[in-house]
Amino acid sequence: MINQDIESKIKNLESEFKKSIKTANDESEIESIRIQYLGRKGSISNLFKDLELFPLDERKQIGKKLNDLKSHIHTTLSKYQKTSQKKETSQQYLDPTLPGDRLPIGRYHPITTVLRKIISCFKSMGFSIAHGPEVETEYYNFEALNIPKGHPARDMQDTLFIDDNIVLRTHTSPVQIRVMENQPPPVRIIAPGRCYRRDTPDSTHSPVFYQVEGLCVDEGITFADMKGVISTFAKQLFGSQMKIRFRPSFFPFTEPSAEYDFTCMICEGKGCRVCKGTGWVEISGAGMVNPEVFKYVKYGSERYTGYAFGMGVERLAMLLYEVHDIRLFYENDVRFLNQF
Ligand code: PHE
Repeated sequence: MINQDIESKIKNLESEFKKSIKTANDESEIESIRIQYLGRKGSISNLFKDLELFPLDERKQIGKKLNDLKSHIHTTLSKYQKTSQKKETSQQYLDPTLPGDRLPIGRYHPITTVLRKIISCFKSMGFSIAHGPEVETEYYNFEALNIPKGHPARDMQDTLFIDDNIVLRTHTSPVQIRVMENQPPPVRIIAPGRCYRRDTPDSTHSPVFYQVEGLCVDEGITFADMKGVISTFAKQLFGSQMKIRFRPSFFPFTEPSAEYDFTCMICEGKGCRVCKGTGWVEISGAGMVNPEVFKYVKYGSERYTGYAFGMGVERLAMLLYEVHDIRLFYENDVRFLNQF
């Protein structure tokens, strides 16, 4: 009798549970059902307490039924819990009042940014922009720049040949010739662009790199004009504390020729790894246009003089952004690029 009583209690409990779990709407309701049935003072525990009243063999039978119900309740609850969690997160996802995901926005590559700065600075000094081809003839890359075939100066630049007479330009200086061929003096241009040399990549060399060429030709142009222009540029890009210096050098297309350096801004001239302890960083070459070059473009060297300079864009970018390895500019790792 007592036995039947407890069995019907178990059955009732089971159907009660089935009903209440169906109406549970969220995790907190599921949790209160769990406490109601499986908690220390819950319905199942109470029935287990009643078990003591039964003789051993019945106790075993009823105990098994109770345990079955207990584990059934347990697994059902955890199933409901999982689906309710999913429902809650997908409801969050669909919340139309939440702000949208931010779209990643692109930005200029640091080399592009530096090129734009260089261009705007020279534009403000009255220079215009010229372009020339990256695949160049030997004539423009060497010959007309007073570097004849077999001239040892061709060795200064490890050239990538496309064909017998066609090269990937090793510098932007051929644009000087193309501009002067196409217009009479006065000329005041800069020519930004990509150049190629057969170099093994390391922290300061890349087989592809950028230069900006400068050329100014008119009556009465002197070396001092060039120093003024380069120094103004250096101060505009890096600030008024920036100093420049010229060292004697040789280029077949300029006479006299120089190489010029900027104060190393990484150590502010004190000497560091980047400037190899000298406090100066070499930017490129410069000089007065060699009258031999004027002959090729039919400019009268009696009347006109001019200066020309090159500029290594990556070097400027490395100085400006304190980047110690040129290869970082070309690996295009977004974690690096995102910093600019
Ligand atoms: N073209 C030279 C180079 O690539 C640099 C240079 C430009 C030197 C203009 C003098 C005048 O190294």
